[in-house]
Amino acid sequence: MPSGKNEWWRDAVIYQVYPRSFSDSNADGIGDIPGILSRVDYLANLGVDAIWISPFYDSPLLDGGYDVSDFRLVDPRLGVVADVEDLIRAAHAKGVKLFMDIVPNHTSSAHAWFHEVLNSEPGSPAWDRYVIKEGKGAGHEFPPTNWQSVFHGDAWSPLVLANGVKTKYWYLHIFDSSQPDLNWENSEVRAEFEDILKFWFDLGIDGFRIDVAHGLIKDQTFPDIDYGAAREKGLLGAPILSPFWDQDGVHEVYRSWRKIADSYQPPKVFCGETSAPSPERLALYQRPDELHTSFNFHYLRAGFDAIRLKDSVDSTLLNHRKVGAPATWVLSNHDIVRHATRLAPGQSDQPTVMPTPDNADRGVARARAATLFTLGLPGSTYLYQGEELGLPEVLDLPGEARQDPVWFRTGGKEIGRDGCRVPLPWSGDLPSYGFGSGENSWLPQPHSWEHLSVQAQESGDTTLNFYRAALAKRREELATGDGELQWRMGEFTTPNDSILAYRRPHPVSPLTCLMNTTGEMWSAPHSFGTQVVVASGPEVAIVDSGDGEHLVLGPETSVWVRG
Ligand code: GLC
Ligand code: CA
Repeated sequence: MPSGKNEWWRDAVIYQVYPRSFSDSNADGIGDIPGILSRVDYLANLGVDAIWISPFYDSPLLDGGYDVSDFRLVDPRLGVVADVEDLIRAAHAKGVKLFMDIVPNHTSSAHAWFHEVLNSEPGSPAWDRYVIKEGKGAGHEFPPTNWQSVFHGDAWSPLVLANGVKTKYWYLHIFDSSQPDLNWENSEVRAEFEDILKFWFDLGIDGFRIDVAHGLIKDQTFPDIDYGAAREKGLLGAPILSPFWDQDGVHEVYRSWRKIADSYQPPKVFCGETSAPSPERLALYQRPDELHTSFNFHYLRAGFDAIRLKDSVDSTLLNHRKVGAPATWVLSNHDIVRHATRLAPGQSDQPTVMPTPDNADRGVARARAATLFTLGLPGSTYLYQGEELGLPEVLDLPGEARQDPVWFRTGGKEIGRDGCRVPLPWSGDLPSYGFGSGENSWLPQPHSWEHLSVQAQESGDTTLNFYRAALAKRREELATGDGELQWRMGEFTTPNDSILAYRRPHPVSPLTCLMNTTGEMWSAPHSFGTQVVVASGPEVAIVDSGDGEHLVLGPETSVWVRG
């Protein structure tokens, strides 16, 4: 059981670092662990409670590090284990917690275990660690099922041994063919991951984000999928209801992981990258003896639409309350179109559909409004590096620079996720804009980023200063755990329900968040008062139209007010 309602992770702000793109200490164009260490002060001053770092394990980097060849080593391009220890110490000295990313669904095909498969007899014990099955057809020339990879194409590849001998077997890879799926029915696989968790926990890591947390267990009857009937889409457009997602058996894995986390003092924490078909199914992962939190991708798909945002908040809070867990909220990450671009008018709400470069200014205004609305909600919030600078998705990367397997597996039909992974601009007026000391960056940065760098946003009404103010106020005023929320739309009527208002009750200093999703100014009734705490945009005014002062919100603007 949770030890109480005041655990730090219940209302934490967690900042995601995509390590190759954050900060480069040795000018080779690749962000690294010492680079992150050099920016710990920046992150502490921004006001985040924890940092989650995407994988930095040893990896051939065929899927940005989510293809791990050794879970106990750091990619030599990014550093060594001792650098991670230094980083843990530096973060802790500033009161900032550190999360790593664990990738239990698959290994890289360069992992020693997969080499063992390729160098052993069919059916050897090494084979049982992966999902390997005989092909269909007289010559076993067809894959065992019709399952499609999340990155497109077949989810099975023929198993050819290291000596070149073709077998009648195929191995499963829900992602790239260089990412064979592990067989979680195998007890050695379970034991190995428990050991990996302990390895990093012992080193001082505070918790793990769990990659594809809903994917480990496969339906052992291996049924074909009716893709025509699969309507609801999840990660990268793959159907959410699949025989390899959200199988009941996966909960057993997290029950044993939770015991390990709870054996530490203070206890370690998990956040699952969990895609479930409904908020009800998602909440099951947060039962008291399983994961502490999971990402909430339902909310992420609500776009800049007041009705859908409210519905998502309601169902998320309701279902999390049933299991006593705090909700989490997220608007951007390394897999989806940055929300400063995605939320612009006329773009798709589907987070992986590539946008057009229209309405960029309104995208930033809406992103700031959505961020302030999100930061006021009860629970914890995840930020993705660069969103505090209002960075847009980079839409015009040259084909030869792209590295996402989605780009390669679709023959360039889908441009993939590189556009949200472009290295951050820190300072200066020439590439790499302070990412490293020279001009190198593994993906090219747009010239306009000169004006979006941290240095360029140090003073004035910038997105960076808006984030700093909002995070400071959140810490001062909303540090009430996962708390309550009361909607206040009963106090006004708007066409199309396009204004949202909620109060976070507090015995001394309640706060209300108002969000205007329309393109027009909106006058709030007197009951909302005029004491502005923080606003997402400049167009917030106090106006007296003859009947006393009241608050006026600019178009696509959110505000926190007292009361
Ligand atoms: C997760 C990661 C994504 C990765 C995939 C396969 O969805 O967030 O970046 O490609 O898992 O590991
Ligand atoms: Ca480097």
